[in-house]
Amino acid sequence: MRSVEKFYLLLHPRPAYIIGSGRWGERVNFMAASWVTPVAEEPPLVGVAVDVESYTHELISAYGEFTVNVLPLDRVEDIYYAGSRSGREADKAGALGAVRGEAVGAPVVRGAIGVLECRVAGSYEAEDVTFFVGRVLAARADEELFDERRGWRLGKVDLPLHNWGRGFYGVGRFVLAGSRGRRGGGPGRV
Ligand SMILES: Cc1cc2nc3c(=O)[nH]c(=O)nc-3n(C[C@H](O)[C@H](O)[C@H](O)COP(=O)(O)O)c2cc1C
Repeated sequence: MRSVEKFYLLLHPRPAYIIGSGRWGERVNFMAASWVTPVAEEPPLVGVAVDVESYTHELISAYGEFTVNVLPLDRVEDIYYAGSRSGREADKAGALGAVRGEAVGAPVVRGAIGVLECRVAGSYEAEDVTFFVGRVLAARADEELFDERRGWRLGKVDLPLHNWGRGFYGVGRFVLAGSRGRRGGGPGRV
């Protein structure tokens, strides 16, 4: 083993999403984000780490809302586009296609296969990033592609995982854990 400078790369590849921010009719923006995580189930909370210099940071701070949009792997160019220029210079909402959120004023990506609509419930300020925690006010997914019990139907749709810069993967092969048996019991059922 050797020591690693970019420690966070150990935690990649990770799913890449689009964060919608702003308020419909005023200012709207999309940004790619892979530092996104569920935080709690009850109350339903999701967190995203946002660069303080981004336009997204400005808009989430101003309006206190954001959306998390799941796009399929075949929209990876849209994700990369939303992650490689700022909404201060480009109309990314216009380029990707936007619709109004249902529970929040922040925009949703047209054609997203999954959406979380969130209101900011708290934040942790690191030096160059703010970790916004959002209360999930609405969550919906494409019924053809998502199963309430088992999640994404990856036989029907692939999801983008971000490794670094321009490098992405699709999701790899499926493995069912817990069949080998283990002292102290196997992993719990999901
Ligand atoms: C796949 C991908 C994932 C990214 N993840 C994050 C992230 O989690 N947090 C973040 O602040 N920036 C992330 N970025 C960079 C922002 O998307 C990028 O700085 C963007 O230009 C900011 O746009 P904005 O100024 O319109 O908000 C990511 C970029 C890519 C391509």
